[in-house]
Amino acid sequence: MATIEQAREALSHVMDPELGRDIVDLGMVRNLEVRGAKVRFTLALTTKACPLQNSIISDAKQALLALEGVKDVQVQVGEMTAEEKQRLFGQPGQEQMGKAEALNKIKRVIAVMSGKGGVGKSFVAGLLAMALQRQGLQVGVLDADITGPSIPKMFFPKSPRLMNSPLGILPAATHLGIKVMSINLLLPNEDDAVIWRGPLISGAIKQFWGDVFWGNLDALVVDLPPGTSDPALTVMQSLPVDGVIMVTTPQDLAGMVVRKASQMASQLKVPIWGLVENMSYAVCPDCGKRFSIFGPSHADQVAKQLGVPLLGQLPINPAIAELADAGRIEEYPASEFGPIAEQLIATLK
Ligand SMILES: Nc1ncnc2c1ncn2[C@@H]1O[C@H](COP(=O)(O)OP(=O)(O)OP(=O)(O)O)[C@@H](O)[C@H]1O
Ligand SMILES: [Mg+2]
Repeated sequence: MATIEQAREALSHVMDPELGRDIVDLGMVRNLEVRGAKVRFTLALTTKACPLQNSIISDAKQALLALEGVKDVQVQVGEMTAEEKQRLFGQPGQEQMGKAEALNKIKRVIAVMSGKGGVGKSFVAGLLAMALQRQGLQVGVLDADITGPSIPKMFFPKSPRLMNSPLGILPAATHLGIKVMSINLLLPNEDDAVIWRGPLISGAIKQFWGDVFWGNLDALVVDLPPGTSDPALTVMQSLPVDGVIMVTTPQDLAGMVVRKASQMASQLKVPIWGLVENMSYAVCPDCGKRFSIFGPSHADQVAKQLGVPLLGQLPINPAIAELADAGRIEEYPASEFGPIAEQLIATLK
């Protein structure tokens, strides 16, 4: 026969996957009763609409049925009151600042950087996020490039509205479930130019880290402002970046990219995980032949000088550009990017 303490102990191993804490610790287990072979309790969720409730219930049942003598488990689903949620997650307003950070579990922060602007950095950041997600990882994208709404434009046909929750600001979810946060989603007009100085950028980025409820993420891909100049450095310094992916094109001056990137990396003590060359070549739709439109690639040489792997070379592909411009990039099969993601995941391990 199991005791109530044993039942509680068993339930303390059941996690709320979104909050990353166990359900006993979160105060979700109520009215726990053990009567002979029967165990009953109420599971008070933060919201009854919780998409993970079935998985939590099934984990709880499994944990209890593993106890000796337990044959039957009944779970009633309830919801926490607004006061309980506030006690758990803090008061809205000032006191809540930074609360989400304690609830977030972000395994890796990958910043995508370029030597100069317009090389397809946002495009690569978007494809990278998609490719990682298609490998089964939970992925978020933090658009830290305030110079234009490239990321939201790529993932959303219409600018989504951001929602608040007791846990923090909720990122917008793409069609396939990538979580996206962008300063550009907070601007009333997407064409508004954002002229922000360093401290403001740094404050906004810190808020995106501290006040956005990302939940559990295997990877957060950060689209940095272009180049290795001040805004990019400010963002890098405001976030716990684990590694950098450099994006270049054949036009990029190899030597300059190498110099700037390694300078930045050593200054910030952040490793460069790999190099992606974008717009490396074009494929003739008729004969399938590859053309080096921007001249011969220096990617191998650049990667060697940096001492990092060349993760891949992407062709110019007007079909993806069209999807990206229409907010439908997720319709692209990402086959060209699959091997890059695989290599990157191998590098991360
Ligand atoms: N491989 C590619 N094939 C086709 N189009 C591409 C490719 N890479 C990028 N583009 C297109 O080129 C344009 C610029 O790309 P993107 O916005 O990603 O550049 P960026 O480096 O982020 O620019 P910025 O420095 O301004 O942030 C976009 O319209 C994008 O769709
Ligand atoms: Mg960009």
